[in-house]
Amino acid sequence: MSVALKVDGLRMEFGGLVAVKDVSFEVAKGEMVGLIGPNGCGKSTTFNCISGLLEQTRGRVEVFGKDASTMRPEQIQRLGVTRTFQHTRLWREMTVIENLLVPPRNQFRPLDVLWKGRKHAAEQARLARAYDVLDELEVPHMAHNLASELSGGQSKLVDIGRSMMGEPGLLLLDEPVAGVAGPLAMKIFANLRRLVDETGISILVIEHNMDFILRQGVDRIVVMNEGEVLMQGTPDEVRSNRAVVEAYLGSAGDAGGEEE
Ligand SMILES: Nc1ncnc2c1ncn2[C@@H]1O[C@H](COP(=O)(O)OP(=O)(O)O)[C@@H](O)[C@H]1O
Ligand SMILES: [Mg+2]
Repeated sequence: MSVALKVDGLRMEFGGLVAVKDVSFEVAKGEMVGLIGPNGCGKSTTFNCISGLLEQTRGRVEVFGKDASTMRPEQIQRLGVTRTFQHTRLWREMTVIENLLVPPRNQFRPLDVLWKGRKHAAEQARLARAYDVLDELEVPHMAHNLASELSGGQSKLVDIGRSMMGEPGLLLLDEPVAGVAGPLAMKIFANLRRLVDETGISILVIEHNMDFILRQGVDRIVVMNEGEVLMQGTPDEVRSNRAVVEAYLGSAGDAGGEEE
């Protein structure tokens, strides 16, 4: 198994608050993994440490075999990692395709702009890529809509599209379907699954709804609770784990019975 991301003993303290408590897990190449847990359990903080926005108190982050523990965000991005943020911010007065052409936060590549001779060709390639991304997400018809006209769910979709622009090897998505209506949320996950299967990239996706993630075809789920990894395994393993059932699914959960 070839590893895309390895998080080992990750710990993040904010003063006296331990937001992430010695968390360890891996994402293989070509794998789609869910990172799940209730609000405030440390999911986004884990992403912030992986992507270099926060310097962890302790622990190691390895990306495609390279030690990324002390790298800056743009160095980690150069290893092929792109992330989205929990709160989507598009340029409202620009069209969808224009939004795709704007590099995400912290992810500008000054060389593209300075390299004058190649600039035109690079712009053409980027535009073609933007249309391809909308095709991959099955929303080519949205290309020329203003971002301000989009629903919350459509905005999330464009944000995912933006993260796909640089053809990353590892996508970190922070609650890509929060507040998105059921059918579109399922479609977004189906598209992510297809992306993983067809291109072999890896996706680590944060979600807070356990019932939902169990049915979205992810390969594995890492369950967090109060900063710690409660358990990790396949959706079937998670569904039948007593601690998870008690914490999340309740006694009436679909775990195949309350006792034994
Ligand atoms: N920059 C920060 N400074 C202080 N506390 C923070 C910071 N970021 C997150 N926290 C705290 O860390 C805990 C985990 O937050 P977070 O990782 O955002 O949770 P989740 O994404 O699982 O909802 C929360 O108690 C939150 O208030
Ligand atoms: Mg969060």
